[in-house]
Amino acid sequence: MILEVLKFPDPRLREKSDEVKDFSSTRSLSANMLETMYAENGIGLAAPQVGELHRLLVVDCRPRDTKGRYTIEDVSKLEAQIDQPLVIINPRLIRQEGKTTFEEGCLSVPTFFDTVERAQLIELEYQDLAGKPCRLVTDGLLAIVIQHEMDHLEGTLFIDHLSLVKSNKIKNQIRKHGYPEKKKKGEEELEPVGTSSRRKL
Ligand code: NI
Repeated sequence: MILEVLKFPDPRLREKSDEVKDFSSTRSLSANMLETMYAENGIGLAAPQVGELHRLLVVDCRPRDTKGRYTIEDVSKLEAQIDQPLVIINPRLIRQEGKTTFEEGCLSVPTFFDTVERAQLIELEYQDLAGKPCRLVTDGLLAIVIQHEMDHLEGTLFIDHLSLVKSNKIKNQIRKHGYPEKKKKGEEELEPVGTSSRRKL
């Protein structure tokens, strides 16, 4: 089932999400979130973006070509070891190393993209769909997406990371004029998903 993705300035995007303690509905929620994320051509989605204030996020940032087929180029050794799509529940960063930048977008701030700085390598503790404790170490685009989605759990958006001038400009533009009208189906071409191209997270 495709869910409605909340858009800035919806106040629900600014809430802090709760820890998941009951795992009985995580499977259906994450399946619907993945379906929504793929339908919107995104590579990550956090539960608060669909109005569910739970510490749960889904990611699938495997590189795809223009026809949507998965390719294995542009993936770091660490990323390649991790199966995707990935469902991450109650994540906790236990290590962050280095710095990297990427041109980020967000399904909750459609049509806007800008460069954000994140840690280059992360180590993460989390729980899977069944509540089993897991741990992963990754870098590359996967590390960037996870950090972006974890921000959503705290009510933070990528536009909050920009300079105050840039951030206010985008926020004021959206508040004043809304978002540009969505292109008709088929008009929006799938961009190749490389680490060099901007993506909706
Ligand atoms: Ni986002």
